Amino acid sequence: MGTFEGKVVLVTGGTTGIGRATAEGFADAGATVVVTGRNAAVGEEFISALRARGAKGTFLAGDVSREDVVRAWVRAVEREFGRLDIAINNAGVEGTLGPVAEQTEENFRLVFDTNVKGVLFSLKHEIPSIAKQGGAIVNVSSMVGDVGMAGASVYVASKHAVNGLTRSAALETARLGIRINAVAPGGVITPMLDRFTGSNKEVQAGFAQAHPVGRLANPAEIARTILFLASDAAEFMTGSVLTIDGGYLAQ
Ligand SMILES: NC(=O)c1ccc[n+]([C@@H]2O[C@H](COP(=O)([O-])OP(=O)(O)OC[C@H]3O[C@@H](n4cnc5c(N)ncnc54)[C@H](O)[C@@H]3O)[C@@H](O)[C@H]2O)c1
Repeated sequence: MGTFEGKVVLVTGGTTGIGRATAEGFADAGATVVVTGRNAAVGEEFISALRARGAKGTFLAGDVSREDVVRAWVRAVEREFGRLDIAINNAGVEGTLGPVAEQTEENFRLVFDTNVKGVLFSLKHEIPSIAKQGGAIVNVSSMVGDVGMAGASVYVASKHAVNGLTRSAALETARLGIRINAVAPGGVITPMLDRFTGSNKEVQAGFAQAHPVGRLANPAEIARTILFLASDAAEFMTGSVLTIDGGYLAQ
């Protein structure tokens, strides 16, 4: 996969779960990592831990659903590190699960503001910055970005939108030296999965069995796929939504 030495990487929602494992993967591969999130205490603790193992990086606080915040993150990266090479648009929420008949405008706003507006405005501000020298963007979608799931309609719709944004933005940047792809994970053991399943071990075991491999993924397995898409090994890939779901969608 090669090294990311000299590269500056932005990971949104990077203090927990898939984002955290991804930030660690890039840091271990020599990149300077900028992690964003809403909880400054958790973010600073994570960056201290990364620095303690010899990595370079910093934490930026804020809400990804606000364009002014995302714009400020990209400016701060350029000011502090002089460039942005790679962006991982990972921050996301599942919202309140339940049948369509119970969905509320408040839940729609929360999920779409974070998962769709957050990715849209991240792309908007990352693209001109990365275009200065070229690079790659990976959006974190989901296996439900191309299929339905009962009880998760708003989240599912938001991930369909992420796939659409990924494909459209990739077409716009294909000649600018920026590759834009998405990963579409199946069930991954993270705080989100805990919330999705109400921390119910039986529900989690059932969800694991719904994956043909008979288990859920670890965040590091998704991180490795994200690093691959961001690396030169994926040089001819853009506009792809790469499924990493233990066979779920092959059924
Ligand atoms: N866990 C799974 O099974 C699974 C499967 C497919 C896709 N995903 C996607 O992976 C991504 C990461 O989720 P995860 O599973 O690691 O869960 P997670 O809850 O640990 O991570 C989500 C991160 O996004 C941050 N975030 C949420 N809203 C934000 C906001 N408004 N501003 C800034 N940061 C915000 C959270 O604080 C958290 O750090 C999400 O986009 C999720 O939809 C997860």
